[in-house]
Amino acid sequence: MVSYKELGFVNTREMFKAAMAGGYAVPAYNFNNMEQLQAIITACVETQSPVILQVSKGARNYANQTLLRYMGQGAVEMMKEMAREKGLKEIPIALHLDHGDSFELCKSCIEYGFSSVMIDGSHLPYEENVALTKKVVEYAHQFDVTVEGELGVLAGIEDEVVAEKSTYTRPEEVEDFLSKTGVDSLAISIGTSHGANKFKPEQCTLNEDGIYVPPELRFDILAEIEKRIPGFPIVLHGSSSVPVEAVKIINAYGGNIKDAIGIPEEQIRKAATSAVCKVNIDSDGRLWMTAAIRKYLAEHPEVFDPRKYLGPAREALIAMYKHKNINVLGSANRV
Ligand code: G3H
Ligand code: 13P
Ligand code: ZN
Repeated sequence: MVSYKELGFVNTREMFKAAMAGGYAVPAYNFNNMEQLQAIITACVETQSPVILQVSKGARNYANQTLLRYMGQGAVEMMKEMAREKGLKEIPIALHLDHGDSFELCKSCIEYGFSSVMIDGSHLPYEENVALTKKVVEYAHQFDVTVEGELGVLAGIEDEVVAEKSTYTRPEEVEDFLSKTGVDSLAISIGTSHGANKFKPEQCTLNEDGIYVPPELRFDILAEIEKRIPGFPIVLHGSSSVPVEAVKIINAYGGNIKDAIGIPEEQIRKAATSAVCKVNIDSDGRLWMTAAIRKYLAEHPEVFDPRKYLGPAREALIAMYKHKNINVLGSANRV
């Protein structure tokens, strides 16, 4: 058992308090490999933004749980060195389990130095979600690890659980869920979903540039939830905007991504000024990384050194994370 405090991480409590008071949201970016992690740290140090590093069950299986723990620890040391060299402030970093699906997985992550875990019982019957979430909270709080729960189901893939249809969060359940479980933050479902196909074209209208405009998120449900639990940190999953430019590059260089539609960034910006304190973004990074690699390899068919094509991918990620922090989440210059 290693405490996250020894590794230099923080839990999400103070981060969310500051985000709530400041009207912004803390970015929660997923990583599976070195280039993604370097890009997240570089962008967040340079924009002086707090950050939540997210690891899914799939990421942990892909990268190896021990290596991931040391990568996280390395990210803290890299952040400190970078801040010192650039004459900037150190930034708070949380290491968070994304979509934990069992008590055992949450416990294992806490033992490996995670400072925050999500237990996602959103697909379970309500009372089972309450029981599982409460069990995780009771364990995690012994180590001052914060816990995110979820009410309502997002369409798309939630860590190997595929939901065909979304079910919006029922505001009338939130107070009861909070008081029974003791969670520190709550993920809700108001129309976002995972992946690059968040809406079907027939659900959207076409704007003058021929770009699909999806229906608005259910800000009415968010407002109702805020009214019932004022000041309580809300989390938005599935918040990628699925940039048309990235999809165009992918498809121009041999890819085949059809009908990709995300959440317009103005809507995420609007949500970030409310009680939404954490915004999850993964797909946008995947798209920009793929776009950069496809373009580079198509233009340099003779290259076989991974650094040559992963380097530009890392640069594309840095630019995207900076943009999100500065223009979408409002988390820049908040440390
Ligand atoms: O919400 C899911 C995240 O994008 C992580 O995805 O389970 O494929 O690592 P993953
Ligand atoms: P996106 O697929 O919209 O990036 O959402 C990521 C997410 O919610 C991770 O938990
Ligand atoms: Zn998610």
